[in-house]
Amino acid sequence: MKVDVLLGLQWGDEGKGKVVDVLTPHYEVVARFQGGPNAGHTLEFEGKKYVLKSIPSGIFQEGKINIIGNGVVIDPALFKQEVEGLEAAGHILTDRLFISKKAHLILPTHRLLDAASERSMGDAMIGTTGRGIGPAYTDKIARHGLRVGDLFHNFEEKYRNAVLRHKEMLDHYQFEYDLTSLEKQWFEGIEKMKQFTIIDSEHFINKHLASGGSVLAEGAQGAMLDIDFGSYPFVTSSNTICAGACSGMGIAPGKIGEVYGIFKAYCTRVGSGPFPTELFDADGQLLRDKGNEYGSVTGRPRRCGWIDLVALRYTIMLNGVTRLVMMKSDVLDTFETIKACVAYKVNGEETEDLPYDISEGIEPVYVELPGWQVDMSKMQSEDEFPEEFNSYLTFLETELGVPVAIVSLGPDRAQTIIR
Ligand code: GDP
Ligand code: IMO
Ligand code: MG
Repeated sequence: MKVDVLLGLQWGDEGKGKVVDVLTPHYEVVARFQGGPNAGHTLEFEGKKYVLKSIPSGIFQEGKINIIGNGVVIDPALFKQEVEGLEAAGHILTDRLFISKKAHLILPTHRLLDAASERSMGDAMIGTTGRGIGPAYTDKIARHGLRVGDLFHNFEEKYRNAVLRHKEMLDHYQFEYDLTSLEKQWFEGIEKMKQFTIIDSEHFINKHLASGGSVLAEGAQGAMLDIDFGSYPFVTSSNTICAGACSGMGIAPGKIGEVYGIFKAYCTRVGSGPFPTELFDADGQLLRDKGNEYGSVTGRPRRCGWIDLVALRYTIMLNGVTRLVMMKSDVLDTFETIKACVAYKVNGEETEDLPYDISEGIEPVYVELPGWQVDMSKMQSEDEFPEEFNSYLTFLETELGVPVAIVSLGPDRAQTIIR
């Protein structure tokens, strides 16, 4: 069997957690392949709401193995908090959550370095989640990182050496800090992690595939935050695109099956960086209010705007998307008119290709479509879809060249229509 991949096509928070949970019954294994606790994946079912950060979103479906893959960066202190939150809600994970030996650890000093770096940039700050993601991946690439597999060999010494190096950097930033309580929580987190099965995940996943098993790979962030192809430097520090699933799990490109590309029926972004279709008017505020667009991890208000088909065509191309998943169309229910950006005007010339630099001089070219103005949140089948909604779907499928396979009409697991 192959690995199906589900990933975000915009700037994150598209609703990946919800859809991974919905799709999990079709797979035996769910795996995260990049990012870390900068992610906040929300799931709602049976009147309960959970926000997962490092743990894959397949964890609530019975009898499934969930893997934190080698491409992920893990903060043991936050991991412990997350696990204990789920344990308190009656979910015991030790028999079904496995961790890759090759996943890198986020040290407490990585978090401090993230804060110090952001502060040093002033107005040019990236607006990171403050979880130490950039510094942890920097150490990985610089070949200074600590991995989960190191827990069992001279770990204290390796940790101390890393912290010494980080302290020099923090002094350079003239950043003041108190490491004592952070370190205490971190080492308690390490002990918690040791209760889990730590595996050679690349062997596990490939053997599972070879024996006919199926795997769903869960992306974090979104393609417009990809380190290579996103709106650099306002991006995250990993490859969020489909290629990241190969390197972040240890699977060959030919093992990729379906690629689910997930997007909101409009567009949002948190943190700094360009956003060509951003709205600063009442429509933007309505999207924020109706869509409850506040960060699941940091609580920051999300910037809102119209759907950007130039950016979507680009990310569909980069990811080889075979099925689209449209989220939060219910948020558009009250709009009389819906806009979609079909091209950019750059220096007076229209283009449908995403330019190298989208930070300045981009004028979105919009088409207007009639809204459906019907509450869709309780609809159970596509037979109930209003005519205007069907026209919107057909318009998107024609513009993007990929079928919309799933439509989400609300945050709950049950508010999902598979076409
Ligand atoms: P993720 O990071 O991609 O998993 O997405 P987040 O969980 O950060 O953000 C998506 C938000 O939208 C969460 O609060 C979800 O509960 C909510 N959500 C997901 N799908 C829908 C939907 O179809 N309609 C509405 N109104 N909310 C949704
Ligand atoms: P999920 O998986 C939305 C953004 C941050 C910042 C930039 C870099 O829930 O979709 P980082 O902490 O990664 O160094 O921050 O990336 N960002 C996200 N935005 N959803 C996320 O994850 C994000 N993870 C990081 O806001 O702009
Ligand atoms: Mg999120």
